[in-house]
Amino acid sequence: MKPSFIPVSMPDLSELETRYASEAVASTWISSTGAFLDRFEEEFAVASDCRFALGTTSGTTALHLALAALGLGQGDEVIVPSMTYIATANAVRYCGAEPIFVDIDPATWCLDPSQIEAAITPKTKGIIPVHLLGHPADMDPIMKLAVTHGLWVVEDAAEATFASYKGRMCGSLGTVGTFSFFGNKILTSGEGGAVTCNDEALRHRMALLRGQGMDPQKRYHFPIVGYNYRLTNVAAAILCAQMERRDGIIARRQAIVRMYAEELADVPGIAIRQDAPWAESAPWMFSCLIDPTTFGCRRDDLAAALKEREIDSRPMFIPIHRLPPYRQSAKKRHAVLPVTDRLGALGIMLPTYPQLTDADVLRICSSIRDIGRSHLNRRIAAQVHRITPTPSVAQPRKAA
Ligand SMILES: Cc1ncc(COP(=O)(O)O)c(C=O)c1O
Repeated sequence: MKPSFIPVSMPDLSELETRYASEAVASTWISSTGAFLDRFEEEFAVASDCRFALGTTSGTTALHLALAALGLGQGDEVIVPSMTYIATANAVRYCGAEPIFVDIDPATWCLDPSQIEAAITPKTKGIIPVHLLGHPADMDPIMKLAVTHGLWVVEDAAEATFASYKGRMCGSLGTVGTFSFFGNKILTSGEGGAVTCNDEALRHRMALLRGQGMDPQKRYHFPIVGYNYRLTNVAAAILCAQMERRDGIIARRQAIVRMYAEELADVPGIAIRQDAPWAESAPWMFSCLIDPTTFGCRRDDLAAALKEREIDSRPMFIPIHRLPPYRQSAKKRHAVLPVTDRLGALGIMLPTYPQLTDADVLRICSSIRDIGRSHLNRRIAAQVHRITPTPSVAQPRKAA
């Protein structure tokens, strides 16, 4: 019998999400005002240890909203990692500014603070550390540099909801925090996002820009050009249910990540990122590096072999400085990012979501082990074949 298909991610939705979403629909408050929206924004601010949270339509619009509110514009530069989802860099471009790519730390896979200063120019306005795959960036040195150079910091916490750095919540450490509630994230409403901050004036500006720029005191008066980036009350209803269930969701994800780490620890050629001592990571997508020489095959061959066994996976993000919209400008600036390139070439994301059973994780891990071993065995057999002289075979005599 064919084994059941294991997708790479799946939203964890229960009867509670259905109930709250139905309540929002029944109330007729399905657009961007309503009790669930107020409740979600309040609860998310408290849980993120921030004074303010505003719901947005996505993590991408959360980033754009933050950058627009901070006044980012034409000709400005922002320091970002190249190892992230494309939205981080795109949001900078939406403002007419240029992302300046800095390499990542091989230990955390996040922006390397020791390389930031060299990338700062008079055009630099801010830094966007990304808490990649749920692991916090090393925020203290980043904030110190920002203060020294008068820069703002937007934390891209899309993949790191409820992660913490030295006991402080990710998203509460910089000038603004941004989050995603896409279907594969720790909390989800299908599409959705949020910005968090502690500054009242900044909250006001983000709220204004989020709602087309309409003056809150004067209906249909638009003093500035804004956007429609408002989260709906239906999406907020789903998020309220997710907030109630978040401890269970996170605990199960953590158990899965731990199990992967234990099961794969001794597989030759697999490297797993360890949490920094100051980090409490969000258990997003479990990821590891595949060294083809010692593992037996390349990351993409492993993914293809897993697919044959009905197991889905994702390659690590393609470094943004290698992608068409950014390649030329990165080349002009001589961007050399060896750690980013290595992660992009060797990294793989494995299925991580609460519904995954222990047996599923064991099946994934034993498949990975088998695939590596069989490639290694094939390679050894080919080497043996190459070095062993073929015995000469006596030709049978032709019959007279
Ligand atoms: C690091 C990072 N930033 C931003 C985003 C954008 O979020 P969304 O897909 O909700 O627009 C994502 C989404 O995957 C992400 O991983």
